[in-house]
Amino acid sequence: MKFLASSFLLYCIFITSVYSEDSGQTLVLKLVTENCQICHGLHGEASSMIYPRLAGQNKLYLEKQLNDFKSGKRKVDPMNDIAATLTTTEITALAEYFKEQPLKSHRVRDKELAAVGKYIFNKGNKFSGIAACASCHGENGKGTDLRPRLAGQHKRYISEQLNGFTERTRSNDNAVMYSIAQKLTELEIEAVALYVSGL
Ligand code: HEC
Ligand code: HEC
Repeated sequence: MKFLASSFLLYCIFITSVYSEDSGQTLVLKLVTENCQICHGLHGEASSMIYPRLAGQNKLYLEKQLNDFKSGKRKVDPMNDIAATLTTTEITALAEYFKEQPLKSHRVRDKELAAVGKYIFNKGNKFSGIAACASCHGENGKGTDLRPRLAGQHKRYISEQLNGFTERTRSNDNAVMYSIAQKLTELEIEAVALYVSGL
């Protein structure tokens, strides 16, 4: 009897956890389809190259950016208005969702330009004092908790962010990236952006 009662209890716990996980998934999918999909794609693959890919992006980095959009620390249209409507729980759920989505890298055509980018990425530029990107973003470009994944991102978004750091239009936590980006030449920006898009 005791055994039956405890099995029943376990069964109930199992059923509740299956159902709550399920409704959590449904809720996050509803959020994504209604609020993010049109620009970032259902799986974070981005509907167009003007929107950043979110698939496989690190969870804490995604959460931080969404909170920075919400507080207005990172100012950019239309993300401030969108993030303002999200609760902390929704932000965490969205970050978890996009982190788990698979991402295919871009096919790189200009191999010579990408080779210049690979050099900058792995070795930096000692002649102008640029640190290797890999020392923070990882050799494979997958980043760490708070250092964003660059691997597979759109080339155009990467180069725009690098210019944004230099011009300080990317307004949140730009100190480290400002000191690096302002030393990059246009050729280096194009090259490194192309290289990481193919990682
Ligand atoms: C109307 C288009 C649009 C919609 C809808 C939209 N976004 Fe964005 N999002 C953008 C643009 C544009 C940027 C890039 C801004 C920039 O250049 O810095 C961006 C940037 C981001 C970033 C920063 C990425 C990075 O690598 O730093 C995150 C995270 C993000 N969006 C999450 C979301 C989530 C989650 C939703 C849904 C709740 C959403 N966005 C809905 C257009 C959109
Ligand atoms: C000392 C560590 C460090 C080095 C070296 C570094 N980065 Fe970063 N990078 C960061 C951090 C931290 C952020 C996130 C800033 C934030 O929280 O908003 C970042 C953000 C970025 C972003 C924005 C990504 C996004 O999804 O919006 C790009 C692009 C970038 N870095 C490119 C580079 C390139 C290219 C190099 C090499 C030339 C480089 N970084 C070197 C630490 C570094």
